[in-house]
Amino acid sequence: MDLQSEVALVTGAGRGIGLATAEKLGASGAAVVLADQDLATAEAGALAIEGAGGRALAVQMDVRLAGDWTYVVETAVKRYGPLTALVNNAGFDRPGGVAKVSQEDFEAVLSVHLTACLLGMRAALPAFERAGYGAVVNVSSVYAKIGGHGEAAYSAAKAGMVGLTKSAAREFARHGVRVNCVLPGLTDTPAIRGMMSDKVRDKLLAETPLRRMATPGEIANVIAFLCSGEASFVTGAAWEVSGGWNM
Ligand SMILES: NC(=O)c1ccc[n+]([C@@H]2O[C@H](COP(=O)([O-])OP(=O)(O)OC[C@H]3O[C@@H](n4cnc5c(N)ncnc54)[C@H](O)[C@@H]3O)[C@@H](O)[C@H]2O)c1
Repeated sequence: MDLQSEVALVTGAGRGIGLATAEKLGASGAAVVLADQDLATAEAGALAIEGAGGRALAVQMDVRLAGDWTYVVETAVKRYGPLTALVNNAGFDRPGGVAKVSQEDFEAVLSVHLTACLLGMRAALPAFERAGYGAVVNVSSVYAKIGGHGEAAYSAAKAGMVGLTKSAAREFARHGVRVNCVLPGLTDTPAIRGMMSDKVRDKLLAETPLRRMATPGEIANVIAFLCSGEASFVTGAAWEVSGGWNM
């Protein structure tokens, strides 16, 4: 993939899937803005990309804040020119079942995944219009389709992202902007290592035909493809990258 003329903004790019995506886009030639609430990790990622010969800039943001989006998109455009790709990836989980999850946790998870996705696409659209085209990839989850036991907020937020992706795909098409989402299965990232017991992980892997977790790079490869002109006729898609989980 040649992404030399692309300018990409990736949220949650300090680690995990976001970092792997920034690295893949950078290695393919794109100028990459790594946005994360943890600036130190985003800076380390940007340094690594530049060390490998790429172009990268780290910025601190909270994806839940509209003002941060305005600032980050402006910063990206000032540094590299009109944005052409946005990856809405940042997020966290607050486990809890339908009967037990607190309203505060439910709204926090909806906010960081679903509201942030809306704010990001809104903020990026004028920059895409200036470029004449653009691509958005929203990082959802297989849980969007199958739900998760004890994952009420997360499953609802991720399912909402699929609906929002499809609405945006319809609305943005006339601007030359494609909007897709990926639905990863279990992926070996700090988030999963930090919160999932071996027992739960092994149960989920037993339901996965490929019998292993994805590497962050395997998710990043699909995201980068959807950002690229190679995917020029793909919009409104919800692409499972799950090793066959939920076939
Ligand atoms: N790991 C998996 O198995 C898996 C599976 C399906 C979907 N996903 C989704 O992929 C995405 C990335 O997951 P991951 O496993 O790499 O997570 P991770 O926790 O390893 O990384 C998430 C990053 O997002 C950042 N972040 C969190 N809240 C933020 C905020 N408010 N503003 C800005 N940055 C913020 C964190 O600082 C961190 O760098 C998430 O949306 C997650 O729901 C992950």
